[in-house]
Amino acid sequence: MFLDTANITEIEAMLPFNWLTGVTTNPTLLAKEKGQTRANISREILSILGESQRLFIQATGVTQAELYEDAQTILSKDARIAIKIPADQNGFHVMTQLKQERPDVEILATAIFSVEQSYLAALAGCDWVAPYVNRMANQGLSASRIITDTVALFKQLGVSTKILGASFKNTAQITETLIAGAADVTIPADLVEVMMQNKLAADSIQTFNLHAKGGCK
Ligand code: E4P
Repeated sequence: MFLDTANITEIEAMLPFNWLTGVTTNPTLLAKEKGQTRANISREILSILGESQRLFIQATGVTQAELYEDAQTILSKDARIAIKIPADQNGFHVMTQLKQERPDVEILATAIFSVEQSYLAALAGCDWVAPYVNRMANQGLSASRIITDTVALFKQLGVSTKILGASFKNTAQITETLIAGAADVTIPADLVEVMMQNKLAADSIQTFNLHAKGGCK
């Protein structure tokens, strides 16, 4: 599981658990960390992540050349950085070029809204595709159907590209995405908190603790 945040406090709170594969950021999440640059935030996140934990940073740029240049800048900082490339025409060019030049670089095709985008990203050699589940739901699209179809297509093609579900606004979207066949999900910290808390479990635990204090065997 990945944490979808650029906030150090939120990442630190999750580190004691062993479920964190890494952290995903995007320009919007970085902009929420007021007064800090992408470079500063990335450095700080990397300083608290373990050796095997990845940090995904999104390359930006209006032209293909800008996007490629930014990807190179991002990747030059640390071996634990994986690159997010938007799945549009410029992005497909850059993914293809990066994979040809540096096959070891891990690429996540981001802003995925269709099976077609995932198909092209897989052909470009991307390691991951990130379907935007809540943004799909907002447009009346069935994220589960798109993910199920993508899983079937990847299997048919025999590609190793994995699905990393993203853009969640409730916990049902997360479980539906995993059940649809996504290999992984990136979750905002507030939803991880919701997943850890269950009112019925809390009531049961409270009763057990009460009985334990009363000396019940
Ligand atoms: C992660 O990689 C995506 O950028 C992110 O999950 C998008 O989430 P949002 O739709 O809540 O902005």
